[in-house]
Amino acid sequence: MINLDLKNTTISSKKLLKQQGKVNQIHEQLINKKGLGAEMTDWIDLAKNPDQKLLKDIELTVAKLRKDGIDTLLTIGIGGSFLGAHSGIDFVSGKLRSQDKVIFAGINMSATHYVQIEEKLKNRKWAICVISKSGTTLEPALSFRYFKTLLEKKYQKDASKYIIAITDEKKGALKAAADKEKYKTFVVPNGIGGRFSGITPVGLFPLAFAGVNIKELMTGATLATKDFLSSPSLKTNLAYQYATTRYLLNKKNRYVTEIFTTYNYDLETLAEWWKQLFGESEGKNGKSLMPMSVVYSRDLHSLGQTIQEGYKNFFETTLWIKNNQDDIKFVKNNDNLDGLNYLTNLSLNQINEKAFIGIVKAHTVTGNNPNIVIELENNSAKALGYLWLFFFIAVSMSAYLLGINPFNQPGVEIYKKHMFNLLENK
Ligand code: PA5
Repeated sequence: MINLDLKNTTISSKKLLKQQGKVNQIHEQLINKKGLGAEMTDWIDLAKNPDQKLLKDIELTVAKLRKDGIDTLLTIGIGGSFLGAHSGIDFVSGKLRSQDKVIFAGINMSATHYVQIEEKLKNRKWAICVISKSGTTLEPALSFRYFKTLLEKKYQKDASKYIIAITDEKKGALKAAADKEKYKTFVVPNGIGGRFSGITPVGLFPLAFAGVNIKELMTGATLATKDFLSSPSLKTNLAYQYATTRYLLNKKNRYVTEIFTTYNYDLETLAEWWKQLFGESEGKNGKSLMPMSVVYSRDLHSLGQTIQEGYKNFFETTLWIKNNQDDIKFVKNNDNLDGLNYLTNLSLNQINEKAFIGIVKAHTVTGNNPNIVIELENNSAKALGYLWLFFFIAVSMSAYLLGINPFNQPGVEIYKKHMFNLLENK
């Protein structure tokens, strides 16, 4: 499902293979749950053996909402509790197609966002899916408080039928509220952190509501565990090749930024997901690559200048989707006023592909920047599950190579301390 092209990275296979000993050791730690933060690696077990009963329960709950005429799901959650679902829905269904079915809230404290969501919900039959592992994060908690009041106004005594809570099995304010109000609840497993939770109900419930085939998604995830956790060989394991290449580019070649590059409007949120995965997993102890992203060809007309000719402290990681579900052709125009008739035999995906090949050449040969190319077969649900696991496994290897615990995020707590101090002393 994935091809990895490392020829434009300056990291030779000889250099890569020199890391094999270290990679073998880390691989053993990862699969035997002996590394730093190993208690948070249950995503491996879940991907290997998807919980079919849970998948069925999610699908039945979605079907019930649909039967009651619910057309819009207001999904409330932040960070790992929203990025998987948001990016996955855009990836498989397309941004514009899905943005009215699932609306994301609780991702900021912007009043205008609240007001606009409220306007959008006016003539809809909507339900709430509130997601918070801790059950106490301020942004989703505020958002839930606000929109729940609106929902109660709309459905009166039936309101709790239209609230689905996804949270910890035992603790937290959301769990207490869900028990008291008898919401339908799904559990965020203890041993899976937010950014790895796309394959739990956190990601799967909104994905299923948007019409994404979650069983297929999990099939892709399972397949990836076979492909990337069976053998640590750097000759064949693409997730470890990617992890080790970026590690060497950072450690030995001193690149400090990795730019995730996509060529599809619908992958903008996947880039946000990728930035969170690598940013929260690796940025610790003064070490990291700064994860950034661009969407081409749009950003060729902005950051493209800096990428081509600016200061050379970064490399690119390009995600190319080989076969997109959608494609169009242009018809020949007799006037040819725009002079584009020479392109009439190509589809838009083929034109985009030429752009991709040309840009990689411009940025590597002329621009002298390394470029890792990840080519994914298509944008199906199965491919999404496969890609998520590819990155989960890669980021685990990559952070362990830096000597970092990939599965915690102590730095995220520091802003909260300052913010709550100010709020409490208002
Ligand atoms: O990756 C993570 O762990 C974080 O981004 C969390 O998902 C985020 O802070 C939201 O936390 P919670 O689900 O507890 O509300």
